[in-house]
Parts: sequence; structure tokens; C-alpha cells
Amino acid sequence: EPFFISLAILLEVYVKIHDMTQVALMTAVIIILGLIPPIPLAFVPVPIVLQNLGIMIAGIVLGPKRGTIAVGLFLLLALLGFPILSGGQAGPAVFVGPTAGYLIGWLLTPAFIASVNASAFMHHPGRQVVGTWIGAVLLVDILGSLWLIIGSGMSWLPAVMANLAFIPGDTLKVAVAVIVGQRVRIPRINRV
Ligand code: BTN
Repeated sequence: EPFFISLAILLEVYVKIHDMTQVALMTAVIIILGLIPPIPLAFVPVPIVLQNLGIMIAGIVLGPKRGTIAVGLFLLLALLGFPILSGGQAGPAVFVGPTAGYLIGWLLTPAFIASVNASAFMHHPGRQVVGTWIGAVLLVDILGSLWLIIGSGMSWLPAVMANLAFIPGDTLKVAVAVIVGQRVRIPRINRV
């Protein structure tokens, strides 16, 4: 009996290390995508970035719980001042600046994707792409523009229009993230 108890403890430790490694690697992927320089736009103080591709991949590959931890760890490091946001941005000022709504949206993206894709109806490749798009693009853009309107005092029309500039690129990122998600099959041990 003590043998089986030790075995169970070892397995638990293994799962923990396995999960922590995946979360840390995903945070690293998000950071690396931030090294690609952002493209500033003239009409809105929010650039086109590649970093949100990493956020989408985190949600799709790791699921709502570990995905949120990976994104949360990334945002925490950025808040603490590590220059890991696109263009080397960091610090508390960014989290109340014009892009703050998007950053909150990033934290919620894994949960958004999971909830939109939860029903049996969504268990279909085409609908997964649409569901992921709603979770990772539509909901994030809504939060982003709401903050631009409420927090940054932009009027609603330019705030909403600005997001249209993000949609083509973000739609492409959803496609890439879904393809990556289909290829990266991570074994799931005892996990919700
Ligand atoms: C930051 O680095 O402060 C966050 C930038 C947020 C950019 C948003 S994410 C959704 C949309 N798609 C883009 O390519 N850019 C915006």
C-alpha cells in the first residue's frame, strides 16, 4: 500500500511539473511574438501586433484554466515592468493606457474561447473557427473599444471603426491558432 501511495504522489508531482512547464513555455511563446515590432496606426492609439496570436494559441492549446494562467503570468510580468509587450512596453501605465481594454480581453480570451466552444453543437471544425473568432476577436475588440470610449475619451464611432482595421489580421491569426491547436495535441492527464 505505501508503494501505491508513493506512486500516486509521484504521478501528482509529475502532472504538476508537466502543467507548469507547459504554462511557462506558452508564456515564452507570447513573449517571443512580442519581439515582432508593432505597426502603429494613425487614427487610433492601438497598434497592430502579433502578440495576440500567442494569446489565442494559449487559449486553444492549454484550455481555459492553464491558458488563463499562462496569459496571467505574462501580464503580471509586464505589469511588474519586464519590457515584454509589443514594442518593449511595460509597467502599470500601460494597464490604464489606451490598450488596457485589450489587455483585459487577453486575460479573458482562454475563458471566452472555451465558453463559446463549449456546447456539443460547436464540436465541429468550421464552427470551432467561428467560435474562436467570437471569443478571441469579437469579445476582445468589444472590451478594447469600450475602454477606448470610457477610459480614453474617444467617441464611439472612431473607436469602433478603428477595430475594423484589426479584423483582417486577427482573423488570419485565428486561422493560424486553430491550425496550431490541431497539430499540438497535448496529452491530458487527470485534468479539467
Ligand atoms: C499592448 O501592447 O499594449 C496591447 C496591444 C493591443 C493590440 C490589440 S489586440 C487586438 C487588436 N489586434 C491587433 O493587432 N491590435 C489590437
